[in-house]
Amino acid sequence: MIKLKLATEEDAEFVFELMQDKDCQNFIITKTKTNNVEEQKKKLRSYYAQSKKQNRFYFIGMNKKEKIGIVDIYNINKEDERCCIGYAVSKKYRKKGFGTKMVKEGLKFLKNNLKLHGCEAITDPTNAPSTKILQKLNFKKIGTLKHYRKHKGKYLNRELYWKILN
Ligand SMILES: CC(C)(COP(=O)(O)OP(=O)(O)OC[C@H]1O[C@@H](n2cnc3c(N)ncnc32)[C@H](O)[C@@H]1OP(=O)(O)O)[C@@H](O)C(=O)NCCC(=O)NCCS
Repeated sequence: MIKLKLATEEDAEFVFELMQDKDCQNFIITKTKTNNVEEQKKKLRSYYAQSKKQNRFYFIGMNKKEKIGIVDIYNINKEDERCCIGYAVSKKYRKKGFGTKMVKEGLKFLKNNLKLHGCEAITDPTNAPSTKILQKLNFKKIGTLKHYRKHKGKYLNRELYWKILN
């Protein structure tokens, strides 16, 4: 059974390594890239503080005692009761159904704990496993956000998915 626990600075090494993976580098574009474990610690401390204000929740996905990935709940909008979800699984644990299970746990948390009503996800159109997860969990594809991200001088398309949490 997959459980989610809030990330703390002790998870910095795990998260930093996970984010060095080629697919994470390609598909998770962040403006606040961390260059080493120390910077990752700082980022996780900030996420942890934000969780206390219910502004962001950065989880580690656990399979028994093994850390298998992350689930990131961000852009929480309390008035409209919606948020965004992001996720990644360590390379050695991929294609075993863990990604789907982790996101499912994330959605349960949004509905049962945060009492949110809707969740969006934004994915690269070429990211087949991510698209598959969203389809399997009944996210509805809203459309293509043309030139939504600018990365290394290029505009990149993204697909917007949306789910009502019922
Ligand atoms: C996307 C990601 C989280 C999927 O994790 P995972 O644990 O492999 O996911 P699952 O095992 O639950 O697989 C989900 C579906 O995708 C399919 N799949 C997995 N890898 C695939 C691949 N490389 N190509 C095509 N389909 C793939 C699986 O077969 C499964 O479909 P099925 O249930 O019909 O068999 C993982 O690939 C990852 O961390 N990628 C880098 C970060 C990233 O892209 N995050 C998403 C940003 S929006």
